[in-house]
Amino acid sequence: MFSTPIFLVYLFINLLTQCDSRHLNKHLDIDAVQREVRSYSDVANQIIDFSLNGNGKGQSYNRLANFTDKFGNRIAGSQNLENAIDYMLVEMSKDKLENVHGEVAQVPHWVRGDESAVLLLPRKKNLPMLGLGSSIATPPDGIEADVLVVKTFDELNEKASEAKGKIVVFNQDWVSYGVSVAYRSLGASRAAQNGAVASLIRSVTPLSISSPHTGWQDYQSGVPKIPTACITVEDAEMMWRMSQRGEKIRIRLKMEAQLLPSVNSRNTVAEIKGSKYPDEVVLVSGHLDSWDVGQGAMDDGGGAFISWQALSIIRQLNLRPKRTMRAVLWTAEEEGLVGSREYYEAHKSEADKFDLVLESDEGVFTPDGLTFGGSKQAGQIMKQVLELLKPINASKLSESGAGGDIGYFMDVGVPGGNLLNENQHYFYFHHTNGDTMTVQDPHVMDMCSAVWAVIAYTVADLEEMLPRNSTTLKFVPVG
Ligand SMILES: *[C@@H]1O[C@H](CO)[C@@H](O)[C@H](O)[C@H]1NC(C)=O
Ligand SMILES: *[C@@H]1O[C@H](CO)[C@@H](O)[C@H](O)[C@H]1NC(C)=O
Ligand SMILES: *[C@@H]1O[C@H](CO)[C@@H](O)[C@H](O)[C@H]1NC(C)=O
Ligand SMILES: [Zn+2]
Repeated sequence: MFSTPIFLVYLFINLLTQCDSRHLNKHLDIDAVQREVRSYSDVANQIIDFSLNGNGKGQSYNRLANFTDKFGNRIAGSQNLENAIDYMLVEMSKDKLENVHGEVAQVPHWVRGDESAVLLLPRKKNLPMLGLGSSIATPPDGIEADVLVVKTFDELNEKASEAKGKIVVFNQDWVSYGVSVAYRSLGASRAAQNGAVASLIRSVTPLSISSPHTGWQDYQSGVPKIPTACITVEDAEMMWRMSQRGEKIRIRLKMEAQLLPSVNSRNTVAEIKGSKYPDEVVLVSGHLDSWDVGQGAMDDGGGAFISWQALSIIRQLNLRPKRTMRAVLWTAEEEGLVGSREYYEAHKSEADKFDLVLESDEGVFTPDGLTFGGSKQAGQIMKQVLELLKPINASKLSESGAGGDIGYFMDVGVPGGNLLNENQHYFYFHHTNGDTMTVQDPHVMDMCSAVWAVIAYTVADLEEMLPRNSTTLKFVPVG
């Protein structure tokens, strides 16, 4: 039995959810919604045709090419990123999208400066390298030290006594990005715990043509900060072989990197206002910032520009869904989902009104469909939505937990999805000078744009919001 005050709280929550949460309707007839979805096949075909053969053909590629050729890469904290955001606000307004604006987010400001690494022993060789984001500098004359090469953190622990005063080189195997990236994130602190003066990691990639792959790293609290950078797979493997032969290895590392005070950046927002439920939102997104190498065309210019294009297509076709379609181009994703966290903090009180959150940040290669996380019933509806993409073979729905920038909303029960695409080569280019427009393909971007537009428009126009697990607002006794 409830005591009286608790019962009142229960009643209150119950009332709130009934008045306010149409997505918690337990009696939603899934068959009926699936029939409703099937009625969108004509409009889906119209969107696909517009994007592949009509005025939309080549548009997202050409827009992205204009943008990346003009601004190049766009690291958080840079004036260049802010100029790029200003440009997007103008372009999206010229495109007649609605409510185009920036939302301020405070972001880290790390600058690389000059940097170099030279192998001195057993023979002299220049080592292509990139400092890792948030790394400190070396002293102005650099650090010259002997090298300890290890393959794993366990091996480092075994050889802890040999690490003191040395530069630790990690030659970790490529397993997967999710697994191997631990060496980039934590390598410096693990090396410093054992008394190392600097650390170099093998770039986190399954393939290398002598290319360093940068990325953010995380100094652990209570551990001395040491300079850290990535080197190529080729050089890491070579030094590993040298160390196995018992050869003495010596490196001089020079880095001028510094973490400056945080600055204000912006998440870039544009909308097509809903005709019937304007407060309810289907969000499409990618991040506009990039690493400070290459052009940031793949990571994540492609994802950002198909998200713009999804709205642009709907606008050009003079369609207006019942709910609002909103494109958000995140800032400072690369520094650890910084812009999206601030966006979530500012909008979490409206989480109930977010129908679906979509993100493309794993490449815009040939699309296969969507990875989706949400309630079972929402999955059944989304499966039907994906069927609308049969004409371009992109109708696969695969289940998955959470995404990066949209993860904050998914964690509180908002259904979410990431573009599923044939991105087997994504990490070849990731965070390198090779991430340029040359990776992108106009026809493939048209297909990805169509996928994004069909999914976002259809879900935004259905009469009901996607159903959530009712447990997301489960009763919590108070007092
Ligand atoms: C790209 O830039 C050129 C030159 O400024 C302009 O004429 C063209 O319309 C732009 N293309 C797109 C798709 O924005
Ligand atoms: C919804 O509930 C099911 C069954 O309890 C669970 O497996 C699933 O992870 C939940 N999904 C979300 C998005 O909370
Ligand atoms: C879809 O796949 C089928 C069979 O593999 C192929 O014949 C067709 O050309 C593909 N369509 C598109 C648009 O790629
Ligand atoms: Zn990215």
